Amino acid sequence: MPEAVHLRTALPAERELLQALQTRASLKNPGDRDALLQHPDAIDVPLEQIEAGHVFVAESAGTIVGFAAVIPRTDGNAELDALFVEPGCWRRGIGRQLVGHAVEVARARGAEALHVIGNPHAEAFYRSSGFETTGTFKTRFGGGLLMRRLLPPG
Ligand SMILES: CC(C)(COP(=O)(O)OP(=O)(O)OC[C@H]1O[C@@H](n2cnc3c(N)ncnc32)[C@H](O)[C@@H]1OP(=O)(O)O)[C@@H](O)C(=O)NCCC(=O)NCCS
Repeated sequence: MPEAVHLRTALPAERELLQALQTRASLKNPGDRDALLQHPDAIDVPLEQIEAGHVFVAESAGTIVGFAAVIPRTDGNAELDALFVEPGCWRRGIGRQLVGHAVEVARARGAEALHVIGNPHAEAFYRSSGFETTGTFKTRFGGGLLMRRLLPPG
């Protein structure tokens, strides 16, 4: 039986470890590899986000297997600013669990919607996690999808 996955707030000392996980996950997206290798600065988990308590990790048997960041937007809603799962752990529900936590965090802050600029490779994942596409966004690596999950009071 797979180990249980627990979520907790990330620690500043874990920043490099999270960036390494982000690199491994991003390199697995077909088509993103070359752009990423040319722009390694795209890998960044801002220390300020960790220190502000906006980053949380999924941990299994003492190992971090994924993380996500939820930051406030100027319109009062919330932005899912990062979501990465260790490639060897994909399709075990960890991404969905991280989104569930992000939704709780956003709701607790009074947000009425959780937004994300989705990598097109993750569209099926976001759709299955309750997000809808509202538009497109040009990033320096190509197209991103503007996606949103409404958070009715519950
Ligand atoms: C996107 C990502 C976070 C998903 O994490 P995950 O833990 O594998 O996702 P889950 O196991 O919770 O998947 C939940 C559901 O999403 C859908 N889904 C997930 N990955 C999918 C894929 N590659 N293709 C199609 N559907 C997918 C499925 O419906 C899945 O349910 P199922 O496994 O019961 O069929 C992970 O693949 C990742 O880190 N990718 C690289 C980084 C990235 O693109 N992050 C998003 C940045 S915007």
